[in-house]
Amino acid sequence: MNHIRLENISKIYNATNAQAQSALSLLAEGMNSIAVKEQTGYSVGLYDINLAIKAGELHCIMGLSGSGKSTLIRHINRLIDPTSGKIWVDTAINAQTNIIEDDPIVARASQSTPSTIINILELDDKGLQQYRQQNVSMVFQHFGLTPHMTVLQNVAYGLRVRKMSIKERHDIARHWLNEVGLPNLENSYPDELSGGMQQRVGLARALATDNPILLMDEAFSALDPLIRAQLQDQLLELQARLNKTIVFITHDIDEAVKVGQRISILNGGRLVQTGTPSELRNNPVDDYVAQFMQSRK
Ligand SMILES: Nc1ncnc2c1ncn2[C@@H]1O[C@H](COP(=O)(O)OP(=O)(O)OP(=O)(O)O)[C@@H](O)[C@H]1O
Ligand SMILES: [Mg+2]
Repeated sequence: MNHIRLENISKIYNATNAQAQSALSLLAEGMNSIAVKEQTGYSVGLYDINLAIKAGELHCIMGLSGSGKSTLIRHINRLIDPTSGKIWVDTAINAQTNIIEDDPIVARASQSTPSTIINILELDDKGLQQYRQQNVSMVFQHFGLTPHMTVLQNVAYGLRVRKMSIKERHDIARHWLNEVGLPNLENSYPDELSGGMQQRVGLARALATDNPILLMDEAFSALDPLIRAQLQDQLLELQARLNKTIVFITHDIDEAVKVGQRISILNGGRLVQTGTPSELRNNPVDDYVAQFMQSRK
């Protein structure tokens, strides 16, 4: 079952739709993004991306610097709006179990109409706010913790919009701090923690919202190799239990192969190939993919 589907997504930066047409036409003719930038002056973020991310999968997005990874992931919570295309998200996929609600009315509704599958670009401000609160959480590369809040307050912060008491919010935050292996640090401040610990707090904060989609943009890239490996293991262990849909960006092929059930490879804003690690290894579509797979340690 698909959870997120990008349909013909293109992003030309700093251009109106009309201005972007010149760049899009050149891209359609096969010109690469560097040449398009030279000729039109516009930066190509993404071109004609079609990608389906399945419910409950850990999907890695790989590619060299500037290939469009951050641009892609930021479309899923609409930090960026595309120049063209659609983004479909199944909002009936349950926050806790990642399955369709078994409420018969909801189940019937989702069978007879695809009304729970929405194009998130059509949401109004209120709808977008609700979508972000109930569907997506993000873990950032540089942790994004609020320095003057304690660890517990940071983790509970994402729950402030929920109708629950402070005690309930703190209980939930404590639970997730425990889950990520930080049970005794709730009263510490972020700058008292190591990078690896801060990122565990970032992960706990994202998990505490119970949203079914987790977006991780180079979340482990700033960490030392040993700590990074520990967090990769922890993510895999959590994923096996929580069954979230995780979109995980990395430029490290070893990390992608270790954590990704499937990997999508971007080059110059284009999606070159999507597949399992062994599909990419055995049947790379071009030299770019082959070189990535061969560069594995
Ligand atoms: N705000 C922006 N304005 C103009 N161009 C941008 C903007 N953000 C990104 N770009 C351009 O879009 C392209 C894709 O950038 P993006 O940040 O998505 O790449 P990335 O794969 O995440 O790279 P990195 O590995 O360095 O994080 C690049 O050419 C970049 O220069
Ligand atoms: Mg990036």
